[in-house]
Amino acid sequence: MESVQVKDKSFDLFISEEVIIDKIEALARHINEDLANTQPLFVCVLNGAFMFASDLMKRVKIPCEISFIRLKSYQGTCSEGKVREINGLAESVEDRNVVIVEDIIDTGVTIKYLIEKLKRLNPASVKIATLFLKPDALKTDVTPNYVAMEIPNDFIVGYGLDYDGFGRNLRNIYKIKSC
Ligand code: IMP
Ligand code: MG
Repeated sequence: MESVQVKDKSFDLFISEEVIIDKIEALARHINEDLANTQPLFVCVLNGAFMFASDLMKRVKIPCEISFIRLKSYQGTCSEGKVREINGLAESVEDRNVVIVEDIIDTGVTIKYLIEKLKRLNPASVKIATLFLKPDALKTDVTPNYVAMEIPNDFIVGYGLDYDGFGRNLRNIYKIKSC
């Protein structure tokens, strides 16, 4: 089993890049059918979703725009429970069909904050596309529209996701070793 060390923690290979790309291709097909003629505005949640957004957007074939927002809610391997907005959205979302592009929904606090913030700006609709969902960790009533993969409640790194800022550059997903 391939393992990596990120700062003080060890992680085992969990999901290969090939599997991730297959899942993203399926998700993009779904979006291409569902959102044709809606000219969506994709809002990528930085930092974690940058790799996912890049691979997803290359496969979205409908007319669309993409923008970025930077949020932070995690410290180390635990969700902080509160969201700090770092960089806001420059584009107007009024009357737009917005699709939030998120790396992972854990407790759901971050995505819930973002949905509520966006809804106050009068978009036509707000949908969520997430690479990962941890159903067992969910504490809010959010239902993502597009989920590439559901995973157990373990801490993961790679493919944009970090542990204390490190590990985002790993091309596969790694799961924390149980102590
Ligand atoms: P939530 O607000 O608890 O849903 O957490 C969402 C954010 O925490 C995500 O956008 C990620 O950036 C981060 N996060 C949640 N779970 C993990 C994980 O297993 N590894 C790395 N980051 C995570
Ligand atoms: Mg994130």
